[in-house]
Amino acid sequence: MIPSELRQFLDSTRPLLIGGEPVDSGSDGIIDVLDPATEDVVGRTAAAGADDIDAAVSAAQTALHSDAWSGLSPDERGRILWRVAEGLEAHAESLAWLNTLENGKPLSASRAGDVPAAARTFRHYAGMCTKIAGRSPQLVSSARDFHAYTRPEPVGVVGQIVPWNGPIVAASWKLAPALAAGCTSVFKPAEETPLTALYIGRILEEAGLPPGVVNIVPGFGAVAGAAICAHDGIRKVAFTGSTEVGREIVRAAAGNLKKVSLELGGKSPVIICADADLDKAIPAAANAIFFNAGQVCIAGSRLYVEEPVFDRVIDGIARIAADMRVGPGIEDGSQMGPLISRKQLDRVLGLVQSGRDEGARVVTGGERLGDTGCFMQPTVLADTDAGMTVVREEIFGPVLCAMKFTDLDSVIAAANDTEYGLAASIWTRDLQRAHQIAARVEAGLVWINCHAVADPAIAFGGYKQSGWGRENGWEGMEQYLESKSIVANVS
Ligand code: NAI
Ligand code: MG
Repeated sequence: MIPSELRQFLDSTRPLLIGGEPVDSGSDGIIDVLDPATEDVVGRTAAAGADDIDAAVSAAQTALHSDAWSGLSPDERGRILWRVAEGLEAHAESLAWLNTLENGKPLSASRAGDVPAAARTFRHYAGMCTKIAGRSPQLVSSARDFHAYTRPEPVGVVGQIVPWNGPIVAASWKLAPALAAGCTSVFKPAEETPLTALYIGRILEEAGLPPGVVNIVPGFGAVAGAAICAHDGIRKVAFTGSTEVGREIVRAAAGNLKKVSLELGGKSPVIICADADLDKAIPAAANAIFFNAGQVCIAGSRLYVEEPVFDRVIDGIARIAADMRVGPGIEDGSQMGPLISRKQLDRVLGLVQSGRDEGARVVTGGERLGDTGCFMQPTVLADTDAGMTVVREEIFGPVLCAMKFTDLDSVIAAANDTEYGLAASIWTRDLQRAHQIAARVEAGLVWINCHAVADPAIAFGGYKQSGWGRENGWEGMEQYLESKSIVANVS
């Protein structure tokens, strides 16, 4: 049952949150939020226009220099972040429901995955507030006469733009390090999933975050997103989403040369060697592509299997796919929910068709499921090769492309034959082989005998066109800090 506090929240059109105040009518109209399982409206939010972004930037600028925020000690800032984690847990059930209603994923995954992960991220960065430190280097040119030190300082007002595939986690990955660094934020959730962000806005308020430190501005990419990226009052944009929009953001950011960090698409290889523990590798490879209906930047979407075990692995994954319970996220036992929207469903089905046209064999799946909602069958394609669109493009759906390999050099070349470079996983019992492949794969994240292990302590981000910069870990914090060098003449 939908928690009653959530029912109340969904009863009225949710306002933008700017300077701690609700802004009832966004200047770009209203967003209808659809449940992808039914395509019914589950809630509404105001949509920010360029004027609202201006107001949000002003509020963030005021908050940046306010005593209420910049006057806090690192310890006090850390306490607020810790209270946010507690708030996320206190409202866990509402957040999980909201995540499932907006995004479609099984409620069990929202409960066990998204909400705890977001809380862990806030706790991790709560602890980092008190660990920010500069250095005191000795000058090369002088032994005694100078004292030099560095001062890490917040970058300033940051624009943060996230997609819909994991709205709670995305908010935590963006907001926690920015706040730990002392920045203020204009935060734009995806138009498909704006409600979770506004709900988190209430939790931030309850945790004692001063007004204007985080401004939440749901809106459309081409309007609100573009206004953030072009705004001269914003010093940095942190973006997660498509590579195509990432490129637009880089162009828009050139105006005032704002800093940019990008977490973009992927086409991550899963490499299964013949000596791997297949009882573990097979279900893990299935999960790597079918989790969240494949709408995951680190989805293991290209599978390379060593020839002697190819048939066994493909049969195993196909059996899991065919047995998978696909259904509404709020239904008990659902293992895979719908795709985010009709548009995404059509896009993914179109890509599968392009695979068929180019000679791929559909081992299982490949079709829409039912005639209500945006459900699709978990799909395995074989006889795919490096030239096919399905192997080159990020599909962002439950579609696996399976290929054979015979030797190490050729599988590494195939794994690296992509413009993306986000993640890879290797399955083998041979330690040497595992680390050799790990060293040679061009990816920001490599997993050995596991896939998609993301942790607040571990830097996350991509090589090549998968992005710029890293999230999580200390590396994630550095994205929000400038370094000032101070040199004093003490002679
Ligand atoms: P998108 O990149 O258009 O949307 C992501 C975010 O960017 C949303 O908040 C959107 O409002 C915003 N945005 C869109 N245009 C913008 C602009 N001109 N300036 C600033 N912000 C803008 O992704 P979309 O259309 O939802 O999905 C299309 C494809 O992108 C997917 O099929 C998938 O391949 C990829 N994608 C990758 C994600 C990842 O985590 N790597 C997440 C979402 C999508
Ligand atoms: Mg788009």
